[in-house]
Amino acid sequence: MIAETKFSKLRELIEDSSEKELIWINGYLTGLVSAKAIAEPTPQSLVQKLTVVFGTDTGNSKRIATGFGQQLKKSGTQVKLQGLDQYRVTDLVKEEYLLLVISTHGDGEPPAAAKKFYEYIHSNSLSLTNLKYAVLALGDTAYPLFCKAGEDVDLRLKELGATQLLPLEKCDTDFEDTSKTWLGNILKTLDSTSGAARVISIPSKKTRGKKIYTGAIITNTNLNGRGSAKQTHHIELSANGVEYEPGDSLGVVPQNPSGLIEAVLTTVGVNGNKKFSYRNEEYSFYDLLRKKLNITYLPERVVTKYAKIVQQEIPSIRMDLFNLMKIYPVKDEAQFEEVVDILDPITPRLYSIASSLKAHENEVHLTIVKNCFYVNGEIRSGLCSDYLTNLQTEAPVEFYVHKNSEFKLPSSDKDIIMIGPGTGIAPFRAFIEERNASGANGRNWLFYGDQHFESDFLYQTEIQNYLQLGALTQVDVAFSRDQAEKIYVQHKILKKGKEFFNWLESGAHLYVCGAKSPMSDDVEQALIQVIEKFGEKNSEQAQSYLNQLKEEGRYQKDVY
Ligand SMILES: Cc1cc2nc3c(=O)[nH]c(=O)nc-3n(C[C@H](O)[C@H](O)[C@H](O)COP(=O)(O)OP(=O)(O)OC[C@H]3O[C@@H](n4cnc5c(N)ncnc54)[C@H](O)[C@@H]3O)c2cc1C
Ligand SMILES: Cc1cc2nc3c(=O)[nH]c(=O)nc-3n(C[C@H](O)[C@H](O)[C@H](O)COP(=O)(O)O)c2cc1C
Repeated sequence: MIAETKFSKLRELIEDSSEKELIWINGYLTGLVSAKAIAEPTPQSLVQKLTVVFGTDTGNSKRIATGFGQQLKKSGTQVKLQGLDQYRVTDLVKEEYLLLVISTHGDGEPPAAAKKFYEYIHSNSLSLTNLKYAVLALGDTAYPLFCKAGEDVDLRLKELGATQLLPLEKCDTDFEDTSKTWLGNILKTLDSTSGAARVISIPSKKTRGKKIYTGAIITNTNLNGRGSAKQTHHIELSANGVEYEPGDSLGVVPQNPSGLIEAVLTTVGVNGNKKFSYRNEEYSFYDLLRKKLNITYLPERVVTKYAKIVQQEIPSIRMDLFNLMKIYPVKDEAQFEEVVDILDPITPRLYSIASSLKAHENEVHLTIVKNCFYVNGEIRSGLCSDYLTNLQTEAPVEFYVHKNSEFKLPSSDKDIIMIGPGTGIAPFRAFIEERNASGANGRNWLFYGDQHFESDFLYQTEIQNYLQLGALTQVDVAFSRDQAEKIYVQHKILKKGKEFFNWLESGAHLYVCGAKSPMSDDVEQALIQVIEKFGEKNSEQAQSYLNQLKEEGRYQKDVY
């Protein structure tokens, strides 16, 4: 019952104590034991082990799942908490209880970190008859395929024979309360399987929802010089009371160009002032088409619905509404109203915030490149980048702040390495401003690149000033088209490999922002090479070194 060493200490204490002291010790120990029993009741649950997994892009699902993990652990359940990118998919058949928190990205797709899991369950006919599970799906009702990834996963697990603990719960951007209630229900469900009465208090925070700000343009200037192939705008918005942190993004719902709306209305012969009810609110046709409905580059599913309305064979391709109506006209106004009903809402676009509130109170800055592409040999521009870059001074802009807890500065004493070519520079302008304004003493190393030094060095003067001030410790630039062979940021990383690795070894945090493909993949290859060469590792060890950095939150990417 008690180890000999402890017992002999106790005997010594008893022998040395007076009768009065012994009575006091006796009472003291009795009180101590009963207080402990009240403070730590033994949880009684048949559900001893449970796995909580999350699929996240910008950290919301991770935050929720981590909170769940903590609550469940407090209740005595043994919890395995893991990101779906780290989860061993082959363990799925062995799981008994599984809670999934998963967001939706792209056009109804799972986040990149959940793709492996998503594909695994969809391409394998597993038998999951022992599994009891529940899915909490995160999404945004502004998107047409609301919580689609969560829906898919929930349905597929059911198809594979698993038993739902609770029906799928879908959360909008104000997910705090819904997720807490959901966990409460899960706990009740788990207890009803065990028969134990478990009382868990779930602190309820007031939900804030998606806060929409109306800002006004202060500055909208093209940062590219003459002769550049690009048009990248530095946009400053004033917005009283705006709250964000470096690493967050701004969500903007663009408006359709008025010329295009006029063309659509003229083609159908509909009066733009005529009222139409959409999602329980009344709009004029003009306002509906300008601010609410996506009429550019319709997804195939909408084209298919359009074909049914106009009763024509239309190949399943993406197309603008105007072109579609020119080739396959609607018969009359009534048919046009049916078409309006099937259109998706305009989806928000995200832009990395390029400023720090510590440097620009009540302002938010952006770095936006005009998205240009060709359709049938004609140059066209993307909807939102065109809308924003054309806004005049004082024009109002509605936006919201999209928090990204997966792309955040470390404590001020830590070194950081920022790799951000093109518009990837945006969040790093915010990082540098923040660190400069707060007097952070960690070192800051920036890798930047674009096509030409002369015309494409975004924020050149600011960067040089920061270098002189010491707010930037080091800057390495790569201008790909200033010489015969292409030089990109990854080549600069390789060139400075030894120093780069030394920074990592001394605890530096690594950030990558900008184009997902090929930039972030090429950069990752360069990182592996640097770790292999200067860390004297084989490729497998180098990969696990990088994975370890990721797990420690020291390798963060915001790529698009
Ligand atoms: C987290 C995050 C941060 C971001 N940060 C920034 C940033 O700081 N700066 C920045 O500039 N961008 C940023 N982006 C990208 C930005 O959100 C938009 O994706 C980008 O501006 C393009 O949007 P758009 O509305 O201009 O183009 P869209 O209209 O959405 O078009 C996008 C693409 O669709 C195709 N397309 C569209 N219409 C047609 C058509 N009619 N026919 C054929 N093809 C068509 C084209 O390939 C086109 O390039 C970020 C994205 C994310 C997810
Ligand atoms: C580029 C992008 C695309 C998105 N697409 C969808 C979508 O198709 N459907 C949806 O419901 N939500 C969509 N969302 C909203 C996210 O699911 C929502 O912001 C969620 O809270 C993110 O959770 P996470 O941080 O765990 O990834 C999208 C968000 C972004 C940034």
